[in-house]
Amino acid sequence: MSRINFSKAADVYEKTALVQKSASKVLLDLLSIKNGDDVLDLGCGPGNISTEIAKMTKGRVVGIDVAPGMIEKARQSGTASDNVTFAVRDAADFEFSSEFDVIFSNSAFQWFRDPDVVLKRCFKALKQGGRMGIQAPATRNFCTNFVAAEEKIRSNPVTSGVFSDYRSPWLFLEDAKDYARLFERNGFRVSHCQIVQEETLYSVNKAFQIYQSGAENGYLNQDYYQVSLSLDYVEKFRELFREALSEQAREDGMVPIVFNRIYLIAHK
Ligand SMILES: C[S@@+](CC[C@H](N)C(=O)[O-])C[C@H]1O[C@@H](n2cnc3c(N)ncnc32)[C@H](O)[C@@H]1O
Repeated sequence: MSRINFSKAADVYEKTALVQKSASKVLLDLLSIKNGDDVLDLGCGPGNISTEIAKMTKGRVVGIDVAPGMIEKARQSGTASDNVTFAVRDAADFEFSSEFDVIFSNSAFQWFRDPDVVLKRCFKALKQGGRMGIQAPATRNFCTNFVAAEEKIRSNPVTSGVFSDYRSPWLFLEDAKDYARLFERNGFRVSHCQIVQEETLYSVNKAFQIYQSGAENGYLNQDYYQVSLSLDYVEKFRELFREALSEQAREDGMVPIVFNRIYLIAHK
């Protein structure tokens, strides 16, 4: 049975999560964290960005993530700042009340199964006047390369049967206005909301690592299939996915990886 999930990915995540890291910089710019701000990092992964945030403020920084492996990793490497702490928590099930000036959530929102429940908790966790920023892949065509690779998996006789059982876990809205409405119906005022298409060149190897750092935790996660995943399926899936990325490479061997991303800032 496949055991692919974020807890297992924690050891290599920080090195391979290139696209998440570059997008986080844009989100941090938009949020402009001030010295003294108390910050919640929602879906913090291995905590490398929480630790960066802890250098921007003397306030308290709390990173929460549902994957115990990620929090274990964060605790091992997050000791550089004494104002940052980490806890295993589901974004749909945490309790803070008027404690944070800022909620930062990078590349995690697409994983939240019930965003209304999450946003109600976030609204409650913010101080009056506090702000929340998310960055996440958006739209069904969230990454044109990965969506194209899916076609290969769907049409290959070895993978097609099992892949037809896959149910995507991701929350993707099609329009920036849909994201704004989601926040507004949970009490927020939205000041910035834009879906941006970002293209970056990577070698096939790096492009494959990028796929593994995020999307693979959906595509090959047993939780999103009813049938049991065999090692053969996992291996063939990876082989086909890598092949698809190679076919997308330009003459110089570089693959233009294209993501559609939502950047949203909302206020309490
Ligand atoms: C792609 S990683 C992003 C990690 C980090 N924010 C970054 O930008 O590098 C997505 C993270 O969201 C976490 N996650 C997914 N669903 C969650 C939930 N319901 N509650 C809390 N964290 C969740 C995963 O465990 C994973 O660590």
